[in-house]
Amino acid sequence: MRKSGHEPVSMKPNVNPKKRIALIPGDGIGKEVVAEAVKVVEASGAAVSFTSFDWGADRYLADKTTVPPDGFSILTRDFDAIFAGAFGDPRVPSNIHAKEILLGMRSKMDLYANVRPVRLLDAALCPLRGIEPEDVDFVVIRENTEGVYGDLGGVFKQGTPDEVAIQEDVNTRKGVERIIRYAFEFCAASMKQDGFPRRRVLMCDKSNAMTHAGGLWQRVFKDVGAEYPRIEKQHMYVDALAMQMVRDPRGFDVIVTNNMFGDILTDLAAALQGGLGMAASGNIHPGKISMFEPVHGSAPPLAGKNMANPFGAILTTAMMLADLGMTAEAQKIEAAVVAAVREKKTTSDIGGALGTREAGEWVAGKVVTR
Ligand code: NAD
Ligand code: IPM
Ligand code: MN
Repeated sequence: MRKSGHEPVSMKPNVNPKKRIALIPGDGIGKEVVAEAVKVVEASGAAVSFTSFDWGADRYLADKTTVPPDGFSILTRDFDAIFAGAFGDPRVPSNIHAKEILLGMRSKMDLYANVRPVRLLDAALCPLRGIEPEDVDFVVIRENTEGVYGDLGGVFKQGTPDEVAIQEDVNTRKGVERIIRYAFEFCAASMKQDGFPRRRVLMCDKSNAMTHAGGLWQRVFKDVGAEYPRIEKQHMYVDALAMQMVRDPRGFDVIVTNNMFGDILTDLAAALQGGLGMAASGNIHPGKISMFEPVHGSAPPLAGKNMANPFGAILTTAMMLADLGMTAEAQKIEAAVVAAVREKKTTSDIGGALGTREAGEWVAGKVVTR
């Protein structure tokens, strides 16, 4: 039995008739998949309007701007949600623009919960033997503003045999507490919402080696968990969890973990769903504007070839619409992607023969006619 794929993630009030979406397609295949996702949203009839932003490598190379000075305040002030593609371009080896745009949105806008659903839409997409769609249905809730992503540290004696590089892993009580609480609230909301609720929160760390940070996560998980007596609590070390995800993904429900472990585990988890081209995510701070993006990157070798799978981006728009209160449109979109997978109207990474545009147009057509 499936759980709902449409848990609200940010609990934002739905007041305006037409939701304003800031589009930041970014680089490489980000631009291609976003274009298809927009077609699909428009076909769904969702009451949204899109405004495009040219933040990305091209703009950076042209005028050295990553985020314009008032960029984040415009997003926060004038929009209901942000939909981004991907950032990363071999012409910018420092990756400075991706750091300032993508990691900038996450940290400066304080989007502390990175919600990454892991759902297998069709058994044919899973590389594991004997695994059915209902066996892969969990959510990774990744801390999105702390850990090793804070850029604290430094390099000393660079270029000498005595060179030292330090990358600090920052874990604050407030940061750990709010992400763990978010995971329990997410689970609790699902319990109330439908007949197939989530019931377990698993905290994943490496507290056997990283004792200071892990100790804090352990203490907070115990303290916050005590407030949710009806929710089962579980713990796994990240290495064992990675092994178990491949050996048998059944039984995972809500996983909460730090920034870096969440990053790595969700690429692994994407493989269970059919690959990076199928994975969706939302960057959330309840009550504030949220940013939605596919999990994958800009895939430079695929860029401009009409080969990238647009379904991760399309499923991301379903997540965004559900969060904005447009559940019917979200469900239509998701059902159309399921139909495309079933009928092999897909790109080649998941076994079809269509291009990015053709796969996007097929889904858009299916959404219109439903
Ligand atoms: P990637 O996700 O771009 O690609 C990894 C692999 O998955 C490649 O084999 C690629 O061809 C495949 N892939 C990814 N998306 C696909 C899709 N939609 N359809 C079919 N195949 C797909 O990761 P990478 O190669 O490690 O990184 C490339 C660039 O993207 C780097 O600059 C990296 O920093 C950046 N990146 C950005 C984001 C983001 O903006 N959210 C996420 C990850 C990586
Ligand atoms: C992701 C990406 C980013 C991350 C990179 C591009 C900095 O891999 O969104 O998963 O590590 O968070
Ligand atoms: Mn990643």
